[in-house]
Amino acid sequence: MMARVSDALNSGGGPRGGPRPVLLVTGSSGLVGSEMCAFFAAEGYAVHGVDGNQRAFFFGPAGDTRWNQARLERDLPGFVHHELDVRDRPGVLALVETLRPAAIVHTAAQPSHDRAASIPFEDFDTNAAGTLNLLEAARRACPASPFVHLSTNKVYGDRPNTIRLKELETRWDYDDEGFAEGIPETLPIDQSTHSLFGASKVAADVLVQEYGRYFGMPTCCLRGGCLTGPNHAGVELHGFLSYLVKCNLEGRQYRVFGYKGKQVRDNIHSRDVARFAHEFIRRPRCGEVYNLGGGKTNSCSVLEAFRIAEELTGRPQVQAYVDTPRMGDHIVYYSDLRKMRQHYPAWDVSVGLRDIFSEIVASWRARLCR
Ligand SMILES: NC(=O)c1ccc[n+]([C@@H]2O[C@H](COP(=O)([O-])OP(=O)(O)OC[C@H]3O[C@@H](n4cnc5c(N)ncnc54)[C@H](O)[C@@H]3O)[C@@H](O)[C@H]2O)c1
Repeated sequence: MMARVSDALNSGGGPRGGPRPVLLVTGSSGLVGSEMCAFFAAEGYAVHGVDGNQRAFFFGPAGDTRWNQARLERDLPGFVHHELDVRDRPGVLALVETLRPAAIVHTAAQPSHDRAASIPFEDFDTNAAGTLNLLEAARRACPASPFVHLSTNKVYGDRPNTIRLKELETRWDYDDEGFAEGIPETLPIDQSTHSLFGASKVAADVLVQEYGRYFGMPTCCLRGGCLTGPNHAGVELHGFLSYLVKCNLEGRQYRVFGYKGKQVRDNIHSRDVARFAHEFIRRPRCGEVYNLGGGKTNSCSVLEAFRIAEELTGRPQVQAYVDTPRMGDHIVYYSDLRKMRQHYPAWDVSVGLRDIFSEIVASWRARLCR
């Protein structure tokens, strides 16, 4: 269902002249949030970011995102940082009421499948209740403003593991023509094992759809595969490629959990995620769901990722194998991108897998030298 374009975007303001439209980005110091800030600032938006560096609480000092916040404040003219927790309901309602943003991109989250089990309250309150706070704030203050929510492929639980697979030399792959293009949005999301993270993200995903369907708001869920890029504070529990490259450069052991290291992920540069959000905000629809990843072309197994990292850095990947897979982990996942391409033909994946790796290597080299 196509939505009416936000009043704020139509009122003559913004990129084509007049006052700049305001974009509110939650999780602005994280990988995807910071990319959104930079992308939309370049498109002429006045960008307001919300982050409280919770990533450092979730993952310890290695997850700290203050460096990225400082980078945005230094490099983006007019960027405003709000030190706010999305769980703070009155704070969120007040901020959205004050800003009345032309669009909202919600990326703040507890993002780890594995970490959620040890912090279930923080996980649910952030992912589910935090999303409700933002949706309701938007409904009250700016219901016509597009709302882009970063969901996850973990909403499908481990159901993708029920698809017949074939074992190849360095990876598993689907052995079912019905999934030759990858996982479509029609795959059922219930009656499978999700992890607590997957469950809290399902709650958020369904809420975002409901605000679109029930209230007619221009919302969408982007069910991400591996979203990656140079500005990730990759840790063992979240940020697969970023952490793998960091381990490679530091000569530190990378642990592979099960499936012979042949488990497959599709990787998409966070810039391509921002490009899609931009397309959606320009021509929003109501309550939509998209599987957003690099697709089969940008997919790799852990073993294949080791080889690419080694080729680019010239350093051997130190590794250890743990026979037990992560609970509910996908064996093969790559996104079927056909719905995105059909709804938004101007969009496609623009950064290839090797270039993604090269940017991550360059970024870690610079950060580790500091
Ligand atoms: N990176 C991936 O591979 C991936 C894959 C699928 C989905 N996603 C989703 O994309 C979104 C962004 O992921 P990312 O990789 O950029 O994560 P990230 O951890 O790099 O960024 C999230 C940011 O949100 C902030 N944050 C967390 N809780 C907060 C709270 N309560 N209040 C305010 N700020 C808070 C963190 O401090 C962090 O800076 C998340 O919703 C995640 O579930 C990511």
